[in-house]
Amino acid sequence: METHAPRRLGDDWWRRGVVYQVYPRSFADSDGDGTGDLPGIIEKLPYLGPDGLDVDAIWLSPIYPSPGRDVGYDVSDHEAIDPLFGTAADFERLVAEAHRLGLRIMLDLVMNHTSDQHRWFQASRRREAPYADWYLWRDSAGLSPDGQRLPPNNWVSWFGGPAWELDPVRGQWFHHTFLPEQPELDWRVTAVEAAQWAMVRGWLERGVDGFRLDTFNVYLKHPDAPSNPRRRGTSAWTRQRHLYDFDQPDLPQLLGRFRALVDSYPGTMTVGELFAGPTEAAAALTVDRHLVFDWELITRPWSAGAFRAAIRRRERAFGPDRWPTAVLSNHDQPRHASRLAATAGLESERDRDAVARAAAVLVLTQRGTPFVYYGEELGMGDVAVTPDESIDDAATHVAPGFSWWDRSQSRTPMPWTGEPGAGFTTGTPWLKLGPDTATRNVQAQLADPDSVLGCYRRIIATRRAQRSLQDGSLAIIEQTDPDVLAYRRRGSGDDVLVAVSFGGDGGAVRLPPPPKGRRWRTVVGATRDPVQPDGDGHHVRLQGIDAVILVAEQRTA
Ligand code: GLC
Repeated sequence: METHAPRRLGDDWWRRGVVYQVYPRSFADSDGDGTGDLPGIIEKLPYLGPDGLDVDAIWLSPIYPSPGRDVGYDVSDHEAIDPLFGTAADFERLVAEAHRLGLRIMLDLVMNHTSDQHRWFQASRRREAPYADWYLWRDSAGLSPDGQRLPPNNWVSWFGGPAWELDPVRGQWFHHTFLPEQPELDWRVTAVEAAQWAMVRGWLERGVDGFRLDTFNVYLKHPDAPSNPRRRGTSAWTRQRHLYDFDQPDLPQLLGRFRALVDSYPGTMTVGELFAGPTEAAAALTVDRHLVFDWELITRPWSAGAFRAAIRRRERAFGPDRWPTAVLSNHDQPRHASRLAATAGLESERDRDAVARAAAVLVLTQRGTPFVYYGEELGMGDVAVTPDESIDDAATHVAPGFSWWDRSQSRTPMPWTGEPGAGFTTGTPWLKLGPDTATRNVQAQLADPDSVLGCYRRIIATRRAQRSLQDGSLAIIEQTDPDVLAYRRRGSGDDVLVAVSFGGDGGAVRLPPPPKGRRWRTVVGATRDPVQPDGDGHHVRLQGIDAVILVAEQRTA
């Protein structure tokens, strides 16, 4: 079967293309068991391909066997496909079909930890060769006054409680930044690194075009495991300076070895998930073809000032030579349509959709590779899920004082139609469907050019047509109206302006003088009939929450 990567956009697709994140459990269920699967994704590829949304690559959240304590991020076999999602043959077909449509496939590599059910961990806790030292095993630090064994140091888990678990089988403690069911590998053991690279090579040989690296800056810890210094904070996690449990100085060398392997397969890319770090840390770990998610855009409220500051900070941190990503939603965060609208006190569905459309223009026109989380192109919002209905163990582990949010709310099934089951499943969905599924679905939005989906399709098409939106420079254009934001993208030949108004009252966006012999013309907008600049060409007046993209065109008369 054909597994060669598609040629569309060429080897720099990682910079110029758009990546779409599929959460496999929630995308499309082909067999009626209520959980999405690989045949379901294959069936929906045309929706993502050149005659549909027209993205360039698909990142699949984990599809490996997993007991599901962290809903797939606790992997028990990194080389296989979870039968829940299908077979090895289904995966082969997915890669071939995607490539036939010009779509690349990226997998999620969870290499920091395994499930406690992984055969490596099972062998390691019994001290079996060669796995005995593959995990971070340590002895007790001593005994408490009441005779209890004390953990090796003061490290805490992101999900709450100590980061050490005493294993009754081995009689030693193992480290876990996440759940106790996610023991951490010891990347300083040569055989661990070799086993990981063999696994990565296996997927590259199966035709995979790239990877997202789960929590990659946590791989290495200080070899002596000293306690972290204390500081003021509001939770056990923030009351420590995390000097020794992640972000170690020798991480770049380890990443270099990983990149050398991936780079030996032309046309591939990777993107690392920066765990708990600022934009500057993301930029510092970014190199060609190896991107790093920064969280600057995802943490901002809906205001022109907040986005302007975020863009400035990103531009400063990444500079002209490092390529950023642009992301507003993912499987760990509240969905941005509802999140951003709430930060601005906007409650109506109409306003929320206006925010979703304007945010689409923002995320697809930043300098950097945009990542679209499934359903954001429909303006999907968080779904209220009760603790009984939730499937996110981690949410219930979190210690008091640490506000972790139940991620089930942003992982609900994709609504394809308005029928019962939403065209997602003929069975009972694994997580409940959104309450607005009857009207907010792919079928309905394909028929409505003013829908959020209509907007995503137009903006992605414009991005494809305007090279400077793909890889041009970005400069903020200063404004006097506090509710508007404008920036200019310039590059290979074309000159493009993006203007966004954040407030219900709209605003006048000041346009910079166009290059000689040219004038600004609106080519596309958040809605079907975008507004053109004023007669004198100095302003474009946006009504309400809106966004337009203008191009400097040759004057004809
Ligand atoms: C990453 C994943 C998240 C998971 C965690 C532990 O942050 O995105 O879903 O819970 O790693 O694997």
